[in-house]
Amino acid sequence: MSRFYITTPIYYVNDHPHIGHIYTTLVADTVARYRRSKGDEVYFLTGTDEHGQNIERAAEKRGIAPLQLADEVVSRYHSLWQDFSISHDDFIRTTEERHRLGVEEMIRRIEANGDFYTSHHEGWYCSSCEAFYTDKELQPGELCPVHERPVERRSEENIFFRLSKYQDALLEWYDGREGCVQPESRLNEVRQFVASGLRDLSVSRSQLDWGIAFPGHPGQTVYVWLDALTNYLSALGFGRQGKATELYDQYWQGDSPRVHLVGKDILRFHAVYWPAFLMSAGLPLPTQVVAHGWWLRDQQKISKSVGNVVRPDDLVAAFGIDSLRYFLLRDMVFGQDASFSDEGFIDRYNSDLANDLGNTVSRLVTLSRRAFDGRLPPTPGDGLRAAAEEHLASYQQHMEAYAFQRALESLWKILAETNQYLVANEPWKKLKDPEALPQVSQVLWQSLEAVRLVAAALLPLLPEKAPEVLRALGLAEGQGTALEWGELPTGSELPAVSPIFPRIDKKAYLANAEVAPSTPAKASNKETTLQDKTPTPSDGETSAPSPATPSPATPIPAAPGPRADTIDIEQFFATELRVATIEAAEPVPKSNKLLKLTVEIGEPEKRTVVAGIAKAYAPEELVGKQVVVVANLKPAKLMGVESNGMVLAASESGQPVLLHPQRAVPPGTKVR
Ligand code: MSP
Repeated sequence: MSRFYITTPIYYVNDHPHIGHIYTTLVADTVARYRRSKGDEVYFLTGTDEHGQNIERAAEKRGIAPLQLADEVVSRYHSLWQDFSISHDDFIRTTEERHRLGVEEMIRRIEANGDFYTSHHEGWYCSSCEAFYTDKELQPGELCPVHERPVERRSEENIFFRLSKYQDALLEWYDGREGCVQPESRLNEVRQFVASGLRDLSVSRSQLDWGIAFPGHPGQTVYVWLDALTNYLSALGFGRQGKATELYDQYWQGDSPRVHLVGKDILRFHAVYWPAFLMSAGLPLPTQVVAHGWWLRDQQKISKSVGNVVRPDDLVAAFGIDSLRYFLLRDMVFGQDASFSDEGFIDRYNSDLANDLGNTVSRLVTLSRRAFDGRLPPTPGDGLRAAAEEHLASYQQHMEAYAFQRALESLWKILAETNQYLVANEPWKKLKDPEALPQVSQVLWQSLEAVRLVAAALLPLLPEKAPEVLRALGLAEGQGTALEWGELPTGSELPAVSPIFPRIDKKAYLANAEVAPSTPAKASNKETTLQDKTPTPSDGETSAPSPATPSPATPIPAAPGPRADTIDIEQFFATELRVATIEAAEPVPKSNKLLKLTVEIGEPEKRTVVAGIAKAYAPEELVGKQVVVVANLKPAKLMGVESNGMVLAASESGQPVLLHPQRAVPPGTKVR
């Protein structure tokens, strides 16, 4: 058993999360789950970075206090991490007292080592990076090299950290501790940056109030990066006394892994400044800083000003959490940039999840049930074992090297081998031949066992859907999770299967029509026929070999069905319902029915929603009330006013009666 500490960057609270933020967190979650499954004692930390000018300005723009803005965005993160089944052990906010104690202790130690001095400072400042740049580093037009936005000329008296003193020690660390910065290509960038000469770093700001006061230097506020980086220690209890430091002693001492996962844009802070601060404070360094590339949208940088931000909520509402987890882990070569597109997402889902995994499970279960009277095959076999074990071993190697796309490819090779094996043996042709049944049993059991291994290996990556696959194979909760050949029982009961990954109708989705995952024959009550979800050539799918289509299944009578007009849960979740607080209300001119409402719905900007409630409600009685709003409705003009959403009301004899949450909740809270 080993201890394993893994962290995500702490996220700024001046904006709501997008897929870039989700990505780092779900990679960390995947690693944490994987390590736990190997028996490690894991501590997984995430949180929010709440100080600094950016947040101060964003709050000012909204006319609220920075902490209020932070509270709002933090509640978004909490609900998002819950939705994504993120298994973090702690969530730290830099506005917490425990964090301030850690930062003060860090500063005390660096000061004791004589590594601070006060000096006048002038330079180009990017408030998005919260960093100074030299003339040489700027992009043409005096733009920040990271954000490509204008920088400001700043001149201040600041406290400096003697970063230059640590140049050699840093180079020694990179060279002496293999894998301390990953991937290798990024380490080279960092090494070059350090080798070309380090300048001392300004670690305080005099023109900033929103932050931690620099101990012993009135009028100076701790630089946000020195503040933020220390979260990795303060969350463990560094800076406190007695029992409160237990986690720190366990996870930040000795040789057990301490891993920071970061995006490439913040590698310099983690692989240069942070180890230098730690060296100065006489503290152990992280064992690994691992940087991933950026998600682009349709090959373009994701940016609010371009308007191409991919918010996770819409995709999740339409396709479920694990489909997005799968796509993000499968389509990014870890370390490099990757591009998100709706089309790419749907193709990947249909080919890998709906077809290769989902169909294989449905087919095998259906065949086994038919051949063995609703049970798993009675006799096991070993023919697929060697291939499955070989691919599983490479899956494990890739997981340890953060090569998730390769790990998934290894698992999909098991599925491809299984399909080839089925095609070669054609068990579906022998179901009615009693003499062939022992062989059918072996072929099907091995194929089911191979799929079980894939599902067990998928548990850290797809924490919702992998257990569903295991259940579909007749396994009880927690059963069949070992990555060793032979765990699947023989002859036990095997329930009928419903599609785990219903196909997505790409055309309909892209045409912005209703999302239509095909749910053949209202699957919950009727066993899927073997051809139901076989892709046809017209689907234009590229997929791994599938089992040949067997002879048509004997129709199985449906149990009494549900109402004819039911919808799937996915269809329901396509409607995004959120709680909104009404900030202002006024009549729409020339209308006796409509009110124009300005609502706070947990987004940086407020929204206008037009509601046909003027006959039942006076504007003044609505202000401050919370209502439920359909948040993802296409904008529509009503009497010349653009409405962005719809307020829900019960309709009592044609009179609207507004729906309110039973107690106040943060605006933007999901209704489901
Ligand atoms: N607050 C700092 C981190 C302090 S850590 C001590 C910060 N916050 S951030 O919210 O701007 O970014 C957090 C993480 O999200 C970074 O790792 C960043 O690389 C990542 N991403 C932001 N946009 C991204 C993409 N488009 N794609 C992938 N990750 C990106 O930086």
